[in-house]
Amino acid sequence: MSRPEAKAFPFPVGIDALSAHVPDTFLSLDDLAEARGVPPEKISVGLGSFEMAVTPPWEDTVTIAANAAEKPLRLGQVDPGEIGLLVVGTETAVDHAKPVATFLHELLGLPSACRTFEVKHACYGGTAGVTLAADWVRSPSSRGRKALVVAADIARYDLGSSAEFTQGAGAAAMVISRDPRLLEIDPRGGTFTRNVYDFWRPLDRREALVDGKFSIDCYLDALSGATADFAAAHDLADTSSLLDRFEAMLYHTPFPKMAMKAHQRFAEATGRAADAADTARRLVEPWLAMSRRVGNSYTASLYLGLAWLASTGGRLDGREISLFSYGSGCCAEFFTGRFAPGSQEIGRTIDAAGLLARRSRLSVEEYERFSRAKPGESPGAGPSSGFFLARLKDDRRLYERAGATGAVAA
Ligand SMILES: CC(C)(COP(=O)(O)OP(=O)(O)OC[C@H]1O[C@@H](n2cnc3c(N)ncnc32)[C@H](O)[C@@H]1OP(=O)(O)O)[C@@H](O)C(=O)NCCC(=O)NCCS
Repeated sequence: MSRPEAKAFPFPVGIDALSAHVPDTFLSLDDLAEARGVPPEKISVGLGSFEMAVTPPWEDTVTIAANAAEKPLRLGQVDPGEIGLLVVGTETAVDHAKPVATFLHELLGLPSACRTFEVKHACYGGTAGVTLAADWVRSPSSRGRKALVVAADIARYDLGSSAEFTQGAGAAAMVISRDPRLLEIDPRGGTFTRNVYDFWRPLDRREALVDGKFSIDCYLDALSGATADFAAAHDLADTSSLLDRFEAMLYHTPFPKMAMKAHQRFAEATGRAADAADTARRLVEPWLAMSRRVGNSYTASLYLGLAWLASTGGRLDGREISLFSYGSGCCAEFFTGRFAPGSQEIGRTIDAAGLLARRSRLSVEEYERFSRAKPGESPGAGPSSGFFLARLKDDRRLYERAGATGAVAA
């Protein structure tokens, strides 16, 4: 079956604005390694991780999503009235039936004529949202309106488990529109799906279960499969030039070393194994800063990498990048995007470095207290700004806003 050429798509669609949010508190992984009796180099060198975001009990997936998504509205990058679709990709929802998106819809003051729902496929849910939102923008049902896609998660494993070092949290919000000001997305991504039990979270558990080593193998196999489908979608008989084509290669990053393993596999799969290390230094490593200091943010992880690139990468206009999304279970996608003219203006507003610099460091004791607290409790100073979970009443979540940081009313 023949595939459509890029020129067959009538107008460019992609990310018009991008913003990020990470919790205000973090833990040094050196401190955690010492407390757990693990050599610190196993974490800093073996996993490539230095710090992880710790979510205080007054934040949950709704608040980290809302705190990311209100920024493009507050900065005037998008008018709430233009949004006709709101999708939240998450694997750490707050309710089995009521989607995170409905809370956001109210907190952000979006119009009632708006399709609103949540998407789950482990860490792939954000990309599922981005790709379907882009297809919606291309379709007649969008009527020229824009979509808001938020990828938000809190990664939790059991205290004392080996996966404890790969926790974290964060959110990325993306306005998807035609003629995007940040990144035009090529709709011809390569996909791969297979039913595997590498990472899962039964409905009654807050902490995820994982077969760690198996999950790494599943990720790498899915990368090979998605890359092969990408080659088919682009009629590429020879993929060896792909390594020379991109300005940056972003991989889903549950821990930084995983992106390096992924790049090694990509180089091997495209017949360029000998160039893996050199190209990783240039194309992969510089964009791992968020992952090194925030930890795993599941659906948001890939897009926090994009946030760091767009925010600190300088002038990228016209440059092409690749993005690889992996969700355990599993589904994966390898796709590409090209930075729009003037993209630096949008990139600058993300201020990814500022997000990291404004956080405060917790002791291991404070981290454990936060981890064991019930949602909505305040075993500390409490929130100083932004949306927060005020309380639970009859199993209903009630949100408020602290500080005066903008025009969006809760
Ligand atoms: C990532 C994970 C599997 C690590 O498991 P672990 O049993 O604690 O760690 P390992 O023994 O495999 O060691 C991790 C790395 O540190 C290295 N290492 C171990 N001790 C070290 C030391 N003292 N100094 C330097 N490196 C060291 C290991 O060689 C290994 O590197 P490699 O994978 O390149 O060989 C585990 O944290 C996990 O399950 N995380 C959640 C799942 C996940 O993120 N999956 C990813 C795909 S979605």
